Amino acid sequence: MAIDKRDLGRTVVYQIYIKSFCDSNGDGIGDLRGITSKLDYLAYLGVDCVWITPFFPSPQRDNGYDISDYCAIDPVFGTMADFDELVAEAWSRGIGIMLDMVLCHTSTEHAWFKRALAGDERYQRYYILRDGRGSAGPGDPGEPPTNWQSAFGGSMWEWEPRLGKWYLHMHDVSQPDLDWTNPEVRAELARVVRFWRDRGVAGFRFDVVNLISKPDVFEDDPAGTGRALIADGPHVHEYLRELVQASGIDSMLTVGEMAATTLDNCVRYTNPAYGELGMVFSFHHLKVDYKDGDKWALMAPDIDRLREILATWQERMQEGGGWNALFWNNHDQPRAITRFGGRTGVGERGGSWGHVGKALAVCAHLMQGTPYIFQGEELGVPNAGYASIDDYNDVESANAYRMLCERGASPAEALRVVGERSRDNGRTPMPWDGSPAAGFTTGTPWLAVPQSAERVNVAAERGVAGSMLEFYRELVRLRHELAVISEGRVRFLAKDDAAPQVIAFERWLEGEAEARAREAGEPTHLLVVCSLGAEPASLELPVRYRRATRVVGSYDEARIERGVLALRPFEAQVLVEGQFAG
Ligand code: NOJ
Ligand code: CA
Repeated sequence: MAIDKRDLGRTVVYQIYIKSFCDSNGDGIGDLRGITSKLDYLAYLGVDCVWITPFFPSPQRDNGYDISDYCAIDPVFGTMADFDELVAEAWSRGIGIMLDMVLCHTSTEHAWFKRALAGDERYQRYYILRDGRGSAGPGDPGEPPTNWQSAFGGSMWEWEPRLGKWYLHMHDVSQPDLDWTNPEVRAELARVVRFWRDRGVAGFRFDVVNLISKPDVFEDDPAGTGRALIADGPHVHEYLRELVQASGIDSMLTVGEMAATTLDNCVRYTNPAYGELGMVFSFHHLKVDYKDGDKWALMAPDIDRLREILATWQERMQEGGGWNALFWNNHDQPRAITRFGGRTGVGERGGSWGHVGKALAVCAHLMQGTPYIFQGEELGVPNAGYASIDDYNDVESANAYRMLCERGASPAEALRVVGERSRDNGRTPMPWDGSPAAGFTTGTPWLAVPQSAERVNVAAERGVAGSMLEFYRELVRLRHELAVISEGRVRFLAKDDAAPQVIAFERWLEGEAEARAREAGEPTHLLVVCSLGAEPASLELPVRYRRATRVVGSYDEARIERGVLALRPFEAQVLVEGQFAG
């Protein structure tokens, strides 16, 4: 079976962070058989595809994004037979499995790096090795070759005496970057992708894949960390196209995670004419609460800016024939429901927890692109809210806490910032029920179950009218049923038409698609209005929608009077002209 990449608009992807989804054997760590045991739940939600974060052998310094063997399964997550069973069982429910390919770097425990350390020059050419600045000769490290900073803090370079060189690591020191200028490396990686393709998966997510082509000249970055110098590098498009061809995945579902990318590059990555990827994750919209661009400096989200970013990316990707992945959450982000709704996710910025979650869901699921649901998002899981720094596990959180304290923050203040921004917020155990281990494990969970699990969990929401879970099911169903959502064009309402906290856009069908929809009695035009703030607001509706019917929304009815839609805190409404039979 397969999911054709031409069906991108009808596809809804669910992301599983394997360590935290479901533990089948009581060791406190989620695993492949745990996922298989929950396939009926995923079928109930209605998703088409499941992206599973890495489960390959790994020392787990970066929770599996540090891979020591690309073509095997870490025993902690199961066996190859478990994997094959999962793929088959998923397909039998019409669900495809999407794998996470981490091809920018390996673990230092990978056989390639070990051979390089042992002096094998062939494998030394797999990595990016340089002499130090001001080195007096062999054996003298000198200074790091450039001032670049790793994503998790500290220099991007590590001196390795066994190599007599510095090696580049954009992430943790245990994640050396591969040298994609070496054709042998590219061929090996294409073989890896083909290996998994041949085991029947539906597609691939490529980790930080716009960082694979390093600049021709390595020089200091006067402005920052070096990341922007590396992003979308000189040969990235050529390498991606080659990878897709060589591994035979051109017709499959693919998504590239793009760090610090540009819109023009994302058009190129995803316009089918270039033969690269199906869609991209970009992150500009998830930095609207970074003060001065610093993740570790808190600021309330700037919704005006968010609207500008969404409008630009939606409209210009459409113009260029590109395609967006749509998402608010993943395992690297704090929970959007808390981020946009207030610290505890229960309405500090006004509106209730339910309104916040549903308004965000409407916004993402009604845009043009392929929506992703991150485990727990469909229940409204908020940030972890741990009381002690010891409850956090992530290497990035530990480094950030240390850095904040070094810069003069009190331990309480540093904890507060980490609490808001830690990636562990997205990694807490999936709450299946309200019991102490949340039904996630019979043992002790590797990461503490947050208090919210007592009330926010599958058992409390499944089949319950008005619950977040049932709301997400409805959004998935609507995308499957209405061509205007899956295929429609998109246009944002001009900024002057709405208050700064209101994001509004229209979706519509043209030509044959419009005729088909009319014939089927489906709507051909939709208006989506999302107020992402605590203040009441209003919007004068475009003429077409003055006597509109509501399709779905974060409040049960839309209040329209004399062509004006009145919006309560975190109210989102989807309107169609005329009648809607649903
Ligand atoms: C992005 C992944 O999503 C993140 O979890 C990881 O730490 C980095 N890439 C490095 O692989
Ligand atoms: Ca387990």
